[in-house]
Amino acid sequence: MAAESGEDLTQAVNQAFHLVEPQAAGLMDHMDELMLGRMMQEVLTVLMADNLNEQLEYLNFEVGSHLGYGVATSMYGSLFAAVRDCVRDLAGDAWTAETESAWGQRIRSLAEIIENAANARAES
Ligand code: HEM
Repeated sequence: MAAESGEDLTQAVNQAFHLVEPQAAGLMDHMDELMLGRMMQEVLTVLMADNLNEQLEYLNFEVGSHLGYGVATSMYGSLFAAVRDCVRDLAGDAWTAETESAWGQRIRSLAEIIENAANARAES
């Protein structure tokens, strides 16, 4: 796992993400490596955060800017699932049933927060 660079993870995740969300691939066409890397860093930060409450303001901000980029709310779950699948591949035997369950819970919580943020914006 240590041999894998962040860039490899970013590429693997985006490849998996774009396979299930071809429209996202179109939206992300113009992003260079640096931009993709910065986005992946932030995605990992929210996925790994000890306390999601501390990420609410940031998530609300990004949902707003991403609405402007044409990102559909449903795409977030696919992106998070692609990250999980790639990390699972890298983890090998270190991936346990508890790991699977913790990732599932985190992805569901994030999807709910993002959905609520998008709905609040649609209503305002
Ligand atoms: C919680 C999930 C996400 C986070 C934290 C996040 C974060 C970011 C950040 C920080 C940037 C700016 C990169 C930079 O220029 O420094 C960015 C750009 C972008 N993101 Fe995301 N992103 C998320 C989900 C998504 C999803 C699901 C899509 C679907 C296509 C997406 C599409 C884009 C696009 C198209 C841009 C480029 C916008 C531009 O042209 O300036 N993002 N994202």
